[in-house]
Amino acid sequence: MRKIEIEGSKIYVGESYQNITKYLPDAQIIMISDMNVYTHYKHFIDKYDNIIIPTGEKSKNWSTVALIVEELLKLKADRNTFLVGMGGGVVTDITGFVASVFMRGVRFGFIASSLLAQVDASLGGKNGINFHTFKNMIGVFNTPEFVICDAELLKTLPKREVQSGFGEIIKHALIKDHELFVYLKENYKLLLELENRTLEFVIWKAIGIKALVVSNDWLEKGERKQLNFGHTLGHAIENNSDYTHGEAVAVGMYWASKWSVEKGILSETDFAEVQHILKLYRLPINFSLDKYILTSYLLKDKKKHGSAIDFVFLKEIGAAQVMSVPMEELVRAIERL
Ligand SMILES: NC(=O)c1ccc[n+]([C@@H]2O[C@H](COP(=O)([O-])OP(=O)(O)OC[C@H]3O[C@@H](n4cnc5c(N)ncnc54)[C@H](O)[C@@H]3O)[C@@H](O)[C@H]2O)c1
Repeated sequence: MRKIEIEGSKIYVGESYQNITKYLPDAQIIMISDMNVYTHYKHFIDKYDNIIIPTGEKSKNWSTVALIVEELLKLKADRNTFLVGMGGGVVTDITGFVASVFMRGVRFGFIASSLLAQVDASLGGKNGINFHTFKNMIGVFNTPEFVICDAELLKTLPKREVQSGFGEIIKHALIKDHELFVYLKENYKLLLELENRTLEFVIWKAIGIKALVVSNDWLEKGERKQLNFGHTLGHAIENNSDYTHGEAVAVGMYWASKWSVEKGILSETDFAEVQHILKLYRLPINFSLDKYILTSYLLKDKKKHGSAIDFVFLKEIGAAQVMSVPMEELVRAIERL
């Protein structure tokens, strides 16, 4: 087992979720999970008081927050109650949000059960919900006391969700770590087969990258913005299509890299490498979405400030660059898509 700390949050990679009792306080424990995860891990979740929410991105909203709060009250939760979110990014985001606002805040931890949650969503303290079609429009910065990342849990994860998780791992490599990029290329077969040792190593590396970036820039004033590589377009696609988070980010990274070449920031050779790795992990690079919907969505992006937006370009494999671009330029670039 490996341990890493991000802003007071302890991340355990390779720890069994069944060992959670080691990390729980002597208090009422309430587990929050979704229907899918509950179906697979009922035997474990039923050991605790639990609240099961509907599955999927569409449930990351106010009505689910209200449903959870009602259930917490029925379960007589109080300020000493400890919440555990067991699930993918939807469950960890909403659990972290509810824990931060219920009775002005209760303690919480996560069992991250999707690859995407293990390498990204459960880490770094962002907990948010969507509002109408706008991604993560309402949220807080707050860290869980622990995150358990057990690769065994990924054996029940649908293949498409595994690929989605690799979308974020590839992002981490592209913006920060050339060596990890090479490792991902060389070991893609083992990784897609979920070979335990290789996978745990990559999860560990990806967490390390996020930990470093987040610790350098907790409130996203500078370096942390690089983690949004592929997310400007990615979020617009995710909330207006049935693409998973990682698939939408893959299209966003492809497009941001293509734009980086157009602007003379990235070489054609490195752009070919980006396309190659997305193909190896069977991630999409295309989408069909009405440009009007896309543009109107982007005009409300959180990264917008005044008439400009912070956009993450790729400089080379392993290095990104954030630049403020006028919204007009972004809209024109989208029209050329
Ligand atoms: N807070 C952050 O910093 C951050 C970062 C990246 C992404 N996110 C958010 O994370 C969300 C995406 O996360 P996700 O891809 O994990 O989505 P998700 O939570 O919807 O999980 C994907 C699917 O896998 C299922 N699942 C999860 N674990 C499983 C398991 N072990 N076995 C079987 N099925 C399992 C879920 O029920 C769901 O159907 C998005 O809402 C995104 O905005 C947040």
